[in-house]
Amino acid sequence: MKIAVARTGPDPTEREIKLSTDLDLPTIELPYAYLPREVRDFDYLLTYRDSRLLLQSAGDTQAGELCIDFSDAKLNFRANSSIRNQNIAKALGLKGGSRPVVLDATAGLGKDAFLMASLGCEVSLLERSKVVHALLADGLNRLEYYEKGIATILMRMDLRFGDLLEFKADSKQFDVVYLDPMFPPRRKSAKVKKDMALLQQLLGHQTDGAQLLDCAKRLAKKRVVVKRAKLSPHLGSGRPDIEFKGSSSRYDVYLIASG
Ligand SMILES: C[S@@+](CC[C@H](N)C(=O)[O-])C[C@H]1O[C@@H](n2cnc3c(N)ncnc32)[C@H](O)[C@@H]1O
Repeated sequence: MKIAVARTGPDPTEREIKLSTDLDLPTIELPYAYLPREVRDFDYLLTYRDSRLLLQSAGDTQAGELCIDFSDAKLNFRANSSIRNQNIAKALGLKGGSRPVVLDATAGLGKDAFLMASLGCEVSLLERSKVVHALLADGLNRLEYYEKGIATILMRMDLRFGDLLEFKADSKQFDVVYLDPMFPPRRKSAKVKKDMALLQQLLGHQTDGAQLLDCAKRLAKKRVVVKRAKLSPHLGSGRPDIEFKGSSSRYDVYLIASG
């Protein structure tokens, strides 16, 4: 997978240099009027546009672009639509005023983490892809760009880089570990949201679901919540203790016996 940091000026800016150094990626110049699909030597480009970091697929005109924007209307509509009655809240085991501390160990585009933080939970996001981590950091750090309500939710979210399989818990204890590993490939007829499709294209098929579940069970104090496509098999060999089924997804809950 060849990725470059693309710029439109002759000299890289400070943040473009920092990004290419942090991610160990080359920078290339993309003159105005030059379309990403005309780039031949790279598969993906990371570009700053209007102060936001974007991932674009070079060559694939259908793939669109990926940018993490927590002011997204659909995301905020979901966060504001009786979220406490939604399956994600039930799966977290929210009762009364309880606010579990959550580790979202497969952070991705940060949408589920945002929903959990909008429920009042303190959420640590763990992401193992350097590129996805950089996009998330960009989305989380543009605090001044968001309205106050959204910025308050984002202040409950703390981003970390790393792989759950190597994660060393620090002093922080997590009531819930949340997992949403890659969806398995779907049939052509099934709609996959464009941003998720681009993420899947970038990261490829993920195969370590059962290991993730074992690791999550060791870390969680109260429960592990696994998001699955509605008809996907359970992760690992055991059955969950509780299942919450929706129209397209399912939450499998594994309770952790205390003591
Ligand atoms: C399906 S996406 C998650 C989408 C996310 N729930 C959301 O709402 O946007 C899965 C993400 O988990 C990350 N991931 C997969 N395995 C991981 C692991 N072992 N440790 C940390 N991150 C992992 C992938 O890089 C990918 O970004």
